[in-house]
Amino acid sequence: MFDEISPSYDRLNHLLSGYQDNRWRKNAVNYLSSLSSNYKKILDLAAGSGDLGTEFLKLSPQKLYSVDLSFEMLKLNHTKHTSEINTVVKSDAQNLPFKDGFFDLCGIGFGVRNFEHLNECIIEINRVLKIGGKFVTIEMFKPDNPNIFNKLFKLYFEKILPKIGNSVSGSKYAYDYLFESVDNFLSVKNYTELLKKYGFLIKKVKNNFLGIVNTVTAEKNY
Ligand SMILES: C[S@@+](CC[C@H](N)C(=O)[O-])C[C@H]1O[C@@H](n2cnc3c(N)ncnc32)[C@H](O)[C@@H]1O
Repeated sequence: MFDEISPSYDRLNHLLSGYQDNRWRKNAVNYLSSLSSNYKKILDLAAGSGDLGTEFLKLSPQKLYSVDLSFEMLKLNHTKHTSEINTVVKSDAQNLPFKDGFFDLCGIGFGVRNFEHLNECIIEINRVLKIGGKFVTIEMFKPDNPNIFNKLFKLYFEKILPKIGNSVSGSKYAYDYLFESVDNFLSVKNYTELLKKYGFLIKKVKNNFLGIVNTVTAEKNY
């Protein structure tokens, strides 16, 4: 699916988030830089076309690895980040080709919701991080307490967004899937519980948009 929508992915991401998505990525990285100035090896997982990688490069890493399942998204990533600091790798998040404790930081922008085997992926992220390494997730989570805003958001997501997304991307179903994937995903509270279960300490949960888009910053504890 991501191969199919890759040509219009960036444009639609900015449009459908009201041009807020890059601000959320920037804020996440600003917070990370307040925690440490030593991110030598960074993993941008489910990196897609590389917008989170753009922010990660501002942390001056020695190496950035941009990992994704979609070859077409990685081609865009490679075009966006021509610096030799960035290496694109086609791999499943569930089975990463890196040694234990290799990374100082792993980040996932709008990716975890798509993982078929989320628990296995979190175990794998924990494995490739150093003790004390940071893990940041920016994601659309299922709202905990439906209120008027969330009902409006559901209407936007279910009825309006798929029409715009499908027609601009030329895909019949990709943006229907977006609604279903949020509706079937965890709440941010359940997600943080899962991270704690697999050895992470939660440093900060930042609500970016109506309790739906959140940034979760965690640290590998064990
Ligand atoms: C919505 S895009 C996010 C791209 C980018 N991180 C961003 O911030 O815009 C989700 C990406 O997750 C990738 N993906 C989905 N499942 C994956 C998996 N199991 N392992 C690696 N990448 C995966 C898709 O190919 C797609 O490029």
